[in-house]
Amino acid sequence: MSEFKRHLVTAALPYANGPLHIGHLTGAYLPADVYVRFMRLMDKEIAFICGSDEHGAAITMRAMKEGKTPAEIIDTYHDLFKKTFEGIGIAFDHYGRTSDPQHHQCSQDFFRTLYTKGIFEERESEQYFDEKTGQFLADRYIKGTCPKCGYDAAYGDQCEKCGSSLSPTELIEPRSVLSGEKPVFKKTTHWYLPLNKDESWLREFLENGILEGALHHDPSSWKNHVLGQCKSWIDNGLQPRAMTRDLDWGVDVPQEIPGSTGKKLYVWMDAPIGYISATQQWAEKQGLDWRNYWMDTETELVHFIGKDNIVFHCIIFPALLKAHGEFILPSNVPANQFLNLEDQKISTSRNWAIWVHEYLEDLPGQQDALRYYLVKNMPEQKDSEFTWKGFQDAYNNELVNNLSNFVHRVLVLTHKYYDGHVPDFDPDAYFSGVAPDDMGGFHETEYLWLFDKLDELNNYWRAYDFRSALKCLMEICTAGNQLLQLNEPWKNQKEDPEMVEAVMNLALHYVVVISVAMHPFLPFASDKLRKILNLEPLRKGDLLALMDQMAEGELLLKSGHKIQPAEYLFSKIEDEIIRKQIDKLHQTLENQSTAQSNNYLPQKAEISYDDFSKMDIRTARILEAEAVPKADKLLRLKLDLGYEQRIVVSGIAEHFKPEDIIGYDVLVLANLAPRTIRGIESRGMILMAENGEGKLSFVSPSKNWPAGYTVK
Ligand code: MF3
Ligand code: ZN
Repeated sequence: MSEFKRHLVTAALPYANGPLHIGHLTGAYLPADVYVRFMRLMDKEIAFICGSDEHGAAITMRAMKEGKTPAEIIDTYHDLFKKTFEGIGIAFDHYGRTSDPQHHQCSQDFFRTLYTKGIFEERESEQYFDEKTGQFLADRYIKGTCPKCGYDAAYGDQCEKCGSSLSPTELIEPRSVLSGEKPVFKKTTHWYLPLNKDESWLREFLENGILEGALHHDPSSWKNHVLGQCKSWIDNGLQPRAMTRDLDWGVDVPQEIPGSTGKKLYVWMDAPIGYISATQQWAEKQGLDWRNYWMDTETELVHFIGKDNIVFHCIIFPALLKAHGEFILPSNVPANQFLNLEDQKISTSRNWAIWVHEYLEDLPGQQDALRYYLVKNMPEQKDSEFTWKGFQDAYNNELVNNLSNFVHRVLVLTHKYYDGHVPDFDPDAYFSGVAPDDMGGFHETEYLWLFDKLDELNNYWRAYDFRSALKCLMEICTAGNQLLQLNEPWKNQKEDPEMVEAVMNLALHYVVVISVAMHPFLPFASDKLRKILNLEPLRKGDLLALMDQMAEGELLLKSGHKIQPAEYLFSKIEDEIIRKQIDKLHQTLENQSTAQSNNYLPQKAEISYDDFSKMDIRTARILEAEAVPKADKLLRLKLDLGYEQRIVVSGIAEHFKPEDIIGYDVLVLANLAPRTIRGIESRGMILMAENGEGKLSFVSPSKNWPAGYTVK
């Protein structure tokens, strides 16, 4: 890795069709951020690029469901993403968006180059078409039964149950997602990337790390599950894949290309080009040449993604980049697997998720806690699990009892014994081995141990093993605690102040090392600790410099350096907070299961217009309301109908208090035959709406609408 001049790190562009949950965070953004922060501390030139993915069916479907325009949807989520990433400390150098005209231009240029080079195969084929809506149905616009596993809601491009990649024509009993109708075949022409021709070089590239006869990267540095997926894709044979779609939302196929009318780029072609366009924007702002980042083999390109994106980043995008001819290919794609939540798959549609923006609101100031637990349980090699109990335990036992308590003890003792000054310690005397007692040797061994630990930590994050790197950090904290525990400064300060000075000096060194090594994982607490230590905020190269200093046996703190008053970095998280979060999660599930079980009632049998026009529905106002004695459900209402007042008995007492509804404007079926209920003659019926959970709502005319007028 060190041979690269610069590094380009990307994180999957999130679809701007819904908020980010912890699965997204731990899948791509957090590992990328941790990696980049380490790289910076090791003095690497690096650009960290991301942005919103704003095209494709994910967006248009959402817009359709909410009755909004795609533009409204993407603006909402693009803004939310920016805020959320910033809030949780994911520090991109540039966060772009694919609706940006500059991105459209960039992806059109890319398409044009491939077109001009004759890379694409133009093909006419029959594709599913929805006659009702007049649209072709690709990808997520079509659903049906999966031919592989029988799941009845598989998409045209993928079955989410078994993970198979599909094409719409493979679906059994296909139906349009737009209208529910059975689609028909219709002819259309598209431009295909002949991936079948890429099989052999891709195999060489992925399995052996060889590109054009030379070693490109070490294939053993790639994750097994990533290589496994790629291999099975290639083994199954790659098929030409259409790079265009018949859609009205997306990047236009360049208009000078014959037949381009109504055609858009396939979203999986335009989105990864978003990495390039965003890099261009960033470089321009920096006064740098973006080509250095994409077209120079001295740049290392790394894509952080979730496992559902592997094929696009390891096969399709590399094939596009290579076909273009001028671009570098990724040196690694350290994809993560999935995170489950409390024993279940995270599900956006069932709202079984922890939404990052809600976490930030519900647990303010606790960004590092979430980062910590998500790195600790990162699904690096296999699926993993988030539980609130696990979160609380990790927080209280590790962040509070281990890390925070150690740091706090050292700070407090430094104030107590030395008035907040770093105690004297003469490294020459100690490290030369001529120390007056054996404390020098002790200091030296411990110091070397600390250095080795940092070295180990470094090897882990370089191997994308962030869980182990975090464990190393915590081992440093544990060793720090043991250092105090074994030497008990509080007992020995009187008798052996010199020994205590050496121990405290060393303990402060631990704290300095922790303040740097924790930064990629816990940037907020790291900033706070640097302030308490009266040290500069961390800058590029600081970890490298610190390790160099340590390798030279230099001290990291000057004797006499003054620190700020002690503070806790983390303090215990209470049961109450955790319980609330667990309740919140289950609440949404409960709501849904009632909604599902009481779901919409079937529609009643058809009636004629005549039937309808017989009903005399009118606006009315509630003048009086009182409970009907000995009837739990009934209220006696006096209504104003403008031309008269009348009594109606209504079965809403379990839902509304009489005093609350006086003055309400309602609708009443005025010509319903009178009935006597509990001795009261009821003349008419109030119209109520009922939801899936059996809750009732009045149906009211607009405000200040006069009573007595008819509804038709
Ligand atoms: N929007 C896609 C997703 O959320 C990821 C796109 S990654 C990119 O799954 F490379 F295409 F940008
Ligand atoms: Zn399936």
